[in-house]
Amino acid sequence: MFAQALARREPSKRHRVVVFVDANVAAGWPTLVHEIPAYAQGHGDCMELVAPPELVPGGEHIKNEPAQVTRLQHRLMELGIDRHAFVVGVGGGAFLDLIGFVAATTHRGVRHIRIPTTVLAQNDSGVGVKNGVNAFGIKNLLGCFAPPFAVLNDARYLRTLHPRDKIAGIAEAVKVALIRDAVFFEWLEANVQGLRDGAPAAMSRMIRRCAELHMRQIAHGGDPFESGSARPLDYGHWAAHKLEALTAHELRHGEAVAIGLALDTRYSVQVGMLPAGGDERVYRLLKRLGFYLWHPAMETHDSEGRWLLLRGLEEFREHLGGELTITLLRDIGRGEEVHHMDPDEILRAVAWLHRLETGQ
Ligand SMILES: NC(=O)c1ccc[n+]([C@@H]2O[C@H](COP(=O)([O-])OP(=O)(O)OC[C@H]3O[C@@H](n4cnc5c(N)ncnc54)[C@H](O)[C@@H]3O)[C@@H](O)[C@H]2O)c1
Ligand SMILES: [Zn+2]
Repeated sequence: MFAQALARREPSKRHRVVVFVDANVAAGWPTLVHEIPAYAQGHGDCMELVAPPELVPGGEHIKNEPAQVTRLQHRLMELGIDRHAFVVGVGGGAFLDLIGFVAATTHRGVRHIRIPTTVLAQNDSGVGVKNGVNAFGIKNLLGCFAPPFAVLNDARYLRTLHPRDKIAGIAEAVKVALIRDAVFFEWLEANVQGLRDGAPAAMSRMIRRCAELHMRQIAHGGDPFESGSARPLDYGHWAAHKLEALTAHELRHGEAVAIGLALDTRYSVQVGMLPAGGDERVYRLLKRLGFYLWHPAMETHDSEGRWLLLRGLEEFREHLGGELTITLLRDIGRGEEVHHMDPDEILRAVAWLHRLETGQ
């Protein structure tokens, strides 16, 4: 499969390849670093590993270390990687965001193959076109759009995932179902037990449908590089990104997204867009999947009394420029863009969630 993807354009060439592996993936699959060179040797007619697989730490903190970007760019130069060679990344969403950025910025873009190893990376981030790292306290501030040469999802990687990460990634499936696909949402409700338990059949089907919906948006949505003001697949994400930063990434991306979904769904009901009951339905699904939908950071204020969560709205707008554009819900399965959110209504939605999660 890998060899086929590699040789897709130039079948008779021997391709030069460097492989970076998320260290946590390698820890869970200790023989992987030996299996990769063995595979390369077995396919010696079409590929040549320029170095043994290299381990790079994984997790969100890797996106906060500018030195990693420079170190890896330097490494590509040392290895003589040119634009016809391949940089392969095997790892979680954070690791792939970093490796993709390194590949896209070296020689103005080296061919890049992603092998995502988390639920979130397989159903969302790994199949996208965005790369980047965090800087100056802002998530994904430095980055670029660069479509990967290929993305290969392999369910075997998910076996060693921390249970928390298995669940967290499902938030992106709930998100895309809510704004695009009511039938998928009903399927998620009907299969909640299998998903919560990480049952392979349910997980595979969920990942496939979610990845499909993400790819369709990129390929046919009309704005793959987000030059407009909308981030059509980022439902629930204005609050999520802010919460990740406010909790110093104590919340996983998917966990923060789940909170953002509950909040914006409740808001959609409050302002009369989504019929009443939709909020409870979404809340129920997220709870049954195993999400905890509250974090004290949602209520923190700065020394001048400004509510920090609300800054997330402005940061969301600043990221794209132009007019604030937020997706809310018109129905289960149908998102709708708005250009304003009322802080008092957001506060009421936060209070609703607080009440449900803490009983106060
Ligand atoms: N580029 C995009 O379009 C896009 C979209 C959504 C999210 N993202 C980004 O993706 C990141 C989140 O990705 P994530 O949820 O995959 O988290 P992650 O990459 O932080 O992975 C979670 C943890 O699991 C480890 N891990 C990865 N695969 C493993 C495996 N198979 N077995 C054991 N451990 C494993 C990682 O090293 C890490 O410690 C965030 O930075 C988010 O901003 C990017
Ligand atoms: Zn996301």
